[in-house]
Amino acid sequence: MRHPTRPIFLSGASRVAGLLLAASCLSSAWAQAPATPSAPPAAAPAATAGIQSANIMDVKPEASAEPGYASQTNGERGKVQPGNNAPMWRQVGAGVSGFSSLPPSQAPEAGNLIQPFVQYPGSSLTNAGEAWRQVRNNWLIPYGGALLLIVLGAIALFYVSKGTIKQHGANTGRKIERFTPFERSAHWSNAIAFCILAISGIVIAFGKYFLLPVLGLTLFGWLSYALKNLHNFAGPVFAVSLVIIFVTFVRDNLPSRGDLTWLLKGGGLLSGKEVPSHRFNAGEKLVFWAGVFALGLVVVGSGFVLDKLLPGLSYERGTMQIAHMVHAAATVLMMALFIGHIYIGTIGMEGAYQGMKTGYVDETWAREHHEYWADDIQAGRIPAQRSEATAPGQTVRV
Ligand code: HEM
Repeated sequence: MRHPTRPIFLSGASRVAGLLLAASCLSSAWAQAPATPSAPPAAAPAATAGIQSANIMDVKPEASAEPGYASQTNGERGKVQPGNNAPMWRQVGAGVSGFSSLPPSQAPEAGNLIQPFVQYPGSSLTNAGEAWRQVRNNWLIPYGGALLLIVLGAIALFYVSKGTIKQHGANTGRKIERFTPFERSAHWSNAIAFCILAISGIVIAFGKYFLLPVLGLTLFGWLSYALKNLHNFAGPVFAVSLVIIFVTFVRDNLPSRGDLTWLLKGGGLLSGKEVPSHRFNAGEKLVFWAGVFALGLVVVGSGFVLDKLLPGLSYERGTMQIAHMVHAAATVLMMALFIGHIYIGTIGMEGAYQGMKTGYVDETWAREHHEYWADDIQAGRIPAQRSEATAPGQTVRV
């Protein structure tokens, strides 16, 4: 049970409404309280002029010997000890809902200042706002941040020790269309939206640790405000392009011959001899199903709740807290996965970025990295040119 003299902490979404409500309650409740030596009226700041605060233990007359003192209602307490509103505050702190004339359909939580007690995974049993704060500050921020730094560090170590995966053979000059213009525009729309979301999300979650000390309060305040709005708008763009990406690439990401061998041998990354694969190897398929599909669903679903875009849902504090925790955990995992994808797609593997930039790869690249795919193209089972566009240095075949 909360000690009556302790302040009541409000957190998250409830803070502003709570403080306003608390201030108005306090002003009427404490206006009747007798002045005490512990809080001389002269010391009150201008904004709170007229409100006299008092330690509940000092409110006279002392009445704790009254029968049933601990279980008194606020009305009963007021009779024996005017000005002591501890029973009311105990109820507020325990999440009891009071009366509100606002319609519940529009303001379902109007009568409730502090949410009832819950225990979110990783929090203690406490009021929901505080439980959410504990999960965020004790788990999501430190462990999420650590995971991202560990992944970045591991990739940097790998790059320093192994370097870029080179193409061994010489280019043949014969080009294969790896990605059509449609596939590339879907990919890059999604990648750009992802980068905007990742950067803005990192600033929102971790910026106060690494940017605030450099930029100062005003600049950091404006920057995070701007990025937060950008985040809200980039989210739906990411969601739509993610669906297009899924539909476009799902066929070639279905399990196929050689995937298990590829996984068991780790793609041949350590042995230096790449394991044959079809158009996408098992590592890419893993990123597709875990990152694009599973995490994509969770990240987009929870993001839509936070953006209040799902119709028919009651957007209460608890809904937002749960959506936030799910969103933060899933996006950190997604970023960790895609840091690996971005590494391989840029400096990690020679020729990969060119494939997604121009749409074409050389036959040698295809054979070295996706042998079964190259076989299928050579045998005519898959066309080397799928779109109407022309490969660099080639004429259209009619
Ligand atoms: C700056 C960020 C990114 C870069 C530089 C990048 C780069 C690349 C490159 C070079 C490829 C071709 C790989 C190959 O030829 O096998 C590729 C494929 C692909 N990328 Fe990205 N990418 C980025 C972000 C993303 C994001 C955010 C997603 C999805 C959320 C994504 C999903 C895919 C998919 C689905 C493929 C096809 C391969 C597969 O299905 O596994 N990419 N990317």
